[in-house]
Amino acid sequence: KTVDIALGQIEKGGFPHFMLKEIFEQPECLTNCLRGRISLDKQQVTLSAIIDYKKQLLSAKRIIIVACGTSWHAALIGKQMIETYCRIPVEVEYASEFRYRNPVVTSDDVVIAISQSGETADTLAAVKLAKEKGAFIYGVCNAIGSSIPRATDTGTYIHVGPEIGVASTKAFTGQVTVLTLLALCIAREKNTICDEDYKCIIKGLCEIPDKIREVLQENDRIAELSQTFTYARNFLYLGRGFSYPVALEGALKLKEISYIHAEGYPAAEMKHGPIALIDSDMPCVVIATHNEMYEKILSNIQEVKARKGRVIALVTKGDDTISKIADEVIELPETLECLEPLIATIPLQLLAYHVAVCKGKNVDQPRNLAKSVTVE
Ligand code: G6P
Repeated sequence: KTVDIALGQIEKGGFPHFMLKEIFEQPECLTNCLRGRISLDKQQVTLSAIIDYKKQLLSAKRIIIVACGTSWHAALIGKQMIETYCRIPVEVEYASEFRYRNPVVTSDDVVIAISQSGETADTLAAVKLAKEKGAFIYGVCNAIGSSIPRATDTGTYIHVGPEIGVASTKAFTGQVTVLTLLALCIAREKNTICDEDYKCIIKGLCEIPDKIREVLQENDRIAELSQTFTYARNFLYLGRGFSYPVALEGALKLKEISYIHAEGYPAAEMKHGPIALIDSDMPCVVIATHNEMYEKILSNIQEVKARKGRVIALVTKGDDTISKIADEVIELPETLECLEPLIATIPLQLLAYHVAVCKGKNVDQPRNLAKSVTVE
């Protein structure tokens, strides 16, 4: 028994929970994920799957991404990345809905299946269905040799190492990284990205691990501010564009491990419903980094404040407008807008973690949830 406990402690590498260990591993995980895929001179991205299956991938008239849970949120970011840079229409589907809908899928489609475990029953069934209908299937998985990669035509592993915490953290950033690499490869081959953007994104990606390290230094402060919010029964998460899926993911993390009801919303949709819920008991997490939507997000924050909601804002370092209005501010290093999810997700993982720890919850094994859902 004593040996078991000691082993458990060693596996956690000095962290109190796997989840925190995995959050802190992200800089290293993403370095591993990028290794060998970006040339040393940072001028080129290569994915072996793209070299081997160029014809199938480049001839796609449409891409459908199937996934569940956190992987589905990564899919939403992948959609925006692929549509922006590859100009191929992308649909994102819950695997569980897709598989039972007799979806329109043809041999002109490429289906991307995203799954950390590679064992999620609904995602696997969606892959099999799409394959029967003649689509080319590309897997984005973590667990090597698992069922989904074996059922796909090709794919790319995210290489972030085993994820033990039930709430997914490093797999999410790994998935977003691989989807970014995939979009860059396809865009380059199709000539839908200019040289400047291509190189700029590669450079930006290489800087992500260090920028995540910077964000992780905020851990103690996030732990402290989390104590203030354990009273909440509801949380709202708002973001726009690339940050909208980040809002969904932040809300999911909080729900999963702290059992506080949380909703993620595209910020502009707030006025179509959630605004009715805002009062002094409703904290609102807003991803309000410096980009084209800044002014609009600022006015969303003012609307929340006017209703006495408490705002936790994620802002770009040096922001001096939102910092004055928000109740709590977490500063993020600047990066390209399309890479912001890789940075902005980190404080939301930490926030969910610390709120749950303050509430005494079992963060690594939350009630009713399983790490890999192999049943329907
Ligand atoms: C479960 C896990 C989630 C995960 C989802 C999809 O619900 O608790 O963390 O995002 O399954 O899992 P997958 O392994 O397919 O990415």
